[in-house]
Amino acid sequence: MKMDIRTEAARFYDSNPDAPNDIPFYQALIPAPDASILELGCGTGRVTLALAPHCGYIHGIDLSAAMLSICREKLVNVNLPAGRVQIEEGDITNFALPRKFDLIIAPFRVMQNLETDQEVDGLFECIRRHLAPGGSCILNVFRPNRDPQGLREQWVRSEEQLDWEVPVEGGRLVRHHRRPRMDAEKLVLYPELIYRRYEGETLQEESVLKIAMRCYYPDDFIDLIGGHGFKIINRWGGYQGEVYGEGSELVVQFSHGHYG
Ligand SMILES: C[S@@+](CC[C@H](N)C(=O)[O-])C[C@H]1O[C@@H](n2cnc3c(N)ncnc32)[C@H](O)[C@@H]1O
Repeated sequence: MKMDIRTEAARFYDSNPDAPNDIPFYQALIPAPDASILELGCGTGRVTLALAPHCGYIHGIDLSAAMLSICREKLVNVNLPAGRVQIEEGDITNFALPRKFDLIIAPFRVMQNLETDQEVDGLFECIRRHLAPGGSCILNVFRPNRDPQGLREQWVRSEEQLDWEVPVEGGRLVRHHRRPRMDAEKLVLYPELIYRRYEGETLQEESVLKIAMRCYYPDDFIDLIGGHGFKIINRWGGYQGEVYGEGSELVVQFSHGHYG
C-alpha cells in the first residue's frame, strides 16, 4: 500500500472554500434511487455523504487513512439506513470488490494524482471490472489554462502564492502553495500545499502536503478514455453546463465499449 501523504493535512481539507460545486451534478446523474455507486478517492466524504440519501448503496475507496477517519466521524453523525455507505482503505489503481456498480465517480480531480501510465492503466482496468453492464463512469480533471509549452515555461515559480484564508475556531486558516518542480515530459505538476493556522498573529501549526497533478488536455482526455476501450456518453466543461473544452474542468461520462 502507498503511504498516506495526507496524515497531517487531512484535518484541513473540509475547510477548503475552493471545493467545486459539483454535488447537484453528481446527484442528477444517479440513474435510479436504488442505484449502487462506487466513489474512487472518496476522501473525507464530501460527495459520499451528499449522494448517500439518493442511492441504494455507495462504496468509497481512498488511500488515506486520515481522510477516511474524518469521513467515518461524519458518518456517525448522519441518519442513514444501515448498510447504505461503506468506505475502505484501498488503492484505486489496484483493487477488487465482490460486486459491480451502476455508477462510478472520482470527484475533484482524483485521477490527476496518478503519476504513471501504469497507475492510469490500473485505474481503467479496475473501472472495467467494477462497472455493471449498462452502468457509467464519470471522471474529472482540470483543464490546463496554458498550452503544454506555456506550462513548461511558466508553471514553476519560486515564490509562495496565497490560495485562500478562512476563519476557524480561535483564529484563521491560511493556505498558500508553492510550485517547485514539474515533469516537463509527462506534464505532471508537483505543487506543495501549505496550511497554516493562526491564533491572532501567532502561527499555531503548519502542514505541507506535496501532491502530484498529472495534466490532461481536452482531446487527449477523450482519447485516453476511448483508448482504454470505453464509449464516451457525455462531456462537460464544468458543473454548471459549461461546454467541454471551454470551462475550467474536463468532466467525461463513459460506459463499457462494444466489447466491454
Ligand atoms: C482532492 S481529494 C478528493 C476527495 C473527494 N473525492 C472530494 O471530492 O472531496 C483526492 C483524494 O484522492 C485520494 N487518492 C489519491 N490517489 C489515490 C489512490 N491511488 N487510491 C485511492 N485514493 C487516492 C486522496 O487520498 C484524496 O483523498
